[in-house]
Amino acid sequence: EMGAAAVIIYNNGPGALNGTLGEVDPASAPAAGVTQEQGAALIAQEGASVTIDLQGLVEDRTTYNVIAETQTGRHNNVVMAGAHLDSVGDGAGINDNATGSAALLETAIQMGGSPKVNNAVRFAWWGAEEHGLVGSTHYVQNLTFEEQLDIALYLNFDMIGSPNAGYFIFDGDDSDGEGAGAGPYGSAQIEAAFANYFEEVGLPTEGTDFNGRSDYGEFILNGIPAGGLFTGGDGVKTEEQVAKWGGVAGQNYDPNYHTSRDNLGNVDRVAFDRMSDGVAWVIGSYATSTEDVNGVPPR
Ligand code: PHE
Ligand code: ZN
Ligand code: ZN
Ligand code: ZN
Repeated sequence: EMGAAAVIIYNNGPGALNGTLGEVDPASAPAAGVTQEQGAALIAQEGASVTIDLQGLVEDRTTYNVIAETQTGRHNNVVMAGAHLDSVGDGAGINDNATGSAALLETAIQMGGSPKVNNAVRFAWWGAEEHGLVGSTHYVQNLTFEEQLDIALYLNFDMIGSPNAGYFIFDGDDSDGEGAGAGPYGSAQIEAAFANYFEEVGLPTEGTDFNGRSDYGEFILNGIPAGGLFTGGDGVKTEEQVAKWGGVAGQNYDPNYHTSRDNLGNVDRVAFDRMSDGVAWVIGSYATSTEDVNGVPPR
């Protein structure tokens, strides 16, 4: 099942692309620094020839979400899990977010199309997260109210192999008291499900801001409980965190975040493996029951 979402891609500023738009009178065209409106007008005006410093509009594209659901299990109590498939233009986006995408894909492959589960599992690989959560927002907004109610919970995986990894679980109830925002009722139980798993395997974790910076944002805005894992991006690792996890204090969790260095050589495979096991375990547990993971239903 494919869902299309229109995106307008904007260039982020300095180092802007140059574009050539056909063949007419260069004198009539602005040389640089056109506004988005001017850019759009130039594109609309066929045959205009101009090389512009595109500070604004670059192009219009259609992008896609890829969605797959088990044939088995209740389709009115769906366990949904998603990861964004796109990257920023500056790099290949391997930690951000081939890691989350791959963990989900492997979970889906291992589970198969007709697993013996009580709840259907729906996997989503989102498009255009980096352009403002476009794919996931489009998806949630285009569900009917009934279809939204059929989703028991949503799990998000965006960056789970950071080279200076932290082991973070979204703080669904804002229990760390930072005021970063809490999710709907049920989000705290999802946080606890991940926390219990990592406690069982002896890996210390911390809560992290549940503030809408990834594809769970539109889910929680619509009252769907959510959670997920994250190994850190542009934040800085502390001495206390190095004491429990290793790594380098005073350095970002992912020093390659949104750069061309976000490549296959810069993924922490140990962190990625540990987080992937948590992904699979929690998805599998909720597929069995959305009530029993912590003895408390997500909603
Ligand atoms: N969504 C951010 C990105 O793709 C990364 C991020 C993930 C930030 C999770 C905070 C929490 O760049
Ligand atoms: Zn990103
Ligand atoms: Zn991301
Ligand atoms: Zn919490």
